Amino acid sequence: MPFLSDTLARVKPSPTIAISNKARDLAEQGRDIIALSAGEPDFDTPQNIKDAAKRAIDEGKTKYTNVDGTPQLKAAICAKFKRENGLDYKPSQVTVGTGGKQILYNALMATLNPGDEVIIPAPYWVSYPDMVYLAGGTPVPVECPAQTGYKLTPEQLEAAITPNTKWFIFNSPSNPTGAGYTRDELKALTDVLMRHPQVWVMTDDMYEHLVFDDFEFCTPAQVEPGLYDRTLTCNGVSKAYAMTGWRIGYAAGPEVLIKAMSKVQSQSTSNPSSISQWAATEALNGPQDYIVESRKEFQRRRDLVVKMLNEAPGVRCPVPEGAFYVYPTIGDCIGKTSATGISIANDEDFANALLEETGVAVVFGAAFGLSPAFRVSYATSDEVLVDACTRIQTFCKGLK
Ligand SMILES: Cc1ncc(COP(=O)(O)O)c(C=O)c1O
Repeated sequence: MPFLSDTLARVKPSPTIAISNKARDLAEQGRDIIALSAGEPDFDTPQNIKDAAKRAIDEGKTKYTNVDGTPQLKAAICAKFKRENGLDYKPSQVTVGTGGKQILYNALMATLNPGDEVIIPAPYWVSYPDMVYLAGGTPVPVECPAQTGYKLTPEQLEAAITPNTKWFIFNSPSNPTGAGYTRDELKALTDVLMRHPQVWVMTDDMYEHLVFDDFEFCTPAQVEPGLYDRTLTCNGVSKAYAMTGWRIGYAAGPEVLIKAMSKVQSQSTSNPSSISQWAATEALNGPQDYIVESRKEFQRRRDLVVKMLNEAPGVRCPVPEGAFYVYPTIGDCIGKTSATGISIANDEDFANALLEETGVAVVFGAAFGLSPAFRVSYATSDEVLVDACTRIQTFCKGLK
C-alpha cells in the first residue's frame, strides 16, 4: 500500500517557488543572480498598518478570534466592497482566511465532487489546477493566446461549459500576464454565464488596485448583478498593501457557500493570525495613499520592462493592463542554441539556459499552461530591471 495519497500524486509542487529556491541556492553559492520570479511587491508594508499590528499586540488582541474573521475586519471588508465595487454584502456573507490562497482552496474543498469541472483560462496562476486536483475535481484549462490579449473569448467560454462545469475561475488583472478585462469584455463573458445556471463564478481580484493608464477595474457581480447569487468575489491585502507575509485574504458570496468554507477552515487552520487581522482592518479602513503611489511606480517599471524586452531578438512583449508581471512570447527563440551550446527546445530550456548563462531567473510559460513564453515579475528596482533586461537582450542576441 503506498504511503502517500493518490490525490497528492496528481499535484505538482509550485514551479514558481521551485525557481525562486533554485535562484536563491545559486546566489548562496556566490553567483550573481537576479530573481524576476517572485510574486510580491518589493515595497514595505505602510507604517499605519504596522502600527495597528503593534497596537494589537500591546492591547492583548492575541487570542483566537472567530474562525472566519473578526467582526471589525468583516465590517471593513463590507465597507470596501461597497466603496470600491458598488457591491452590498452583509458580514454573514464574508469570510477571512490565511491569504487569498486559503480562501480559494476553502471554496474548492467545500464544493467539488469527483467529476466536477472547473474552467480555468490559461495562462493561469499556477495554483488553480492543482488546488482543483487536491479538492477532487477536474481542471479544464482553456488556452488564451497573445493574439487575443491572453483573454478568454465568449465563444471559448461557451465551448468549454458542460453539464459538469461547477466553477469558472476568473482572474483580472491576471497573474501571469497582467491582462485586464474591460467592462465590455467581461460583460460578454457574463452574458454566456447567464445562460448556464449551473456554473458558479470564482473571481480572483487580488490585483484589483494594480491597474494602469486609464484602465477601469471591474468584477463579475458588479458587471452582471444577475450573477450575484452564484459568485464568490475573492480578494486580499497581500498585493494591494504589500502585505504578502501577513497572510490575510477574504471573500464574499452567498451565505450557504461562506458557511461551508468556514467549516473547512474550522477543521484545518481556524482563524488567521489575530494580529494580521487588525493590520488588515487598518489597511482597508485607513488612508489609501500607498495604493496610488505603488500604482504609479509599477506603471513606470512596466513601461521600462516592456520596451527593453521588445528590443531582445525573438521576444515579443505585449503591454499589460495591470498587476506587476509581463508575459513575453518567445516562439522565435525555440529551436535555437545558446551561446554556450545549450539547445532551446521549449520555454523551460530557455529559462534554465537564461539562469545558467546570465543569472536571471524567470518562470517558463509551461508552468502557467501557455507556451512558449516566460513571466517576468517587475516588482524590483529600475536599476535591477535594466541590468536584468540587458542580460536577457544579450542572451537572445547570442541564440543561433
Ligand atoms: C492570482 C493570485 N491569486 C491569489 C494569490 C494568493 O495571494 P495570497 O498571498 O494572499 O495567498 C496570488 C499570489 O501570488 C495570485 O497571484
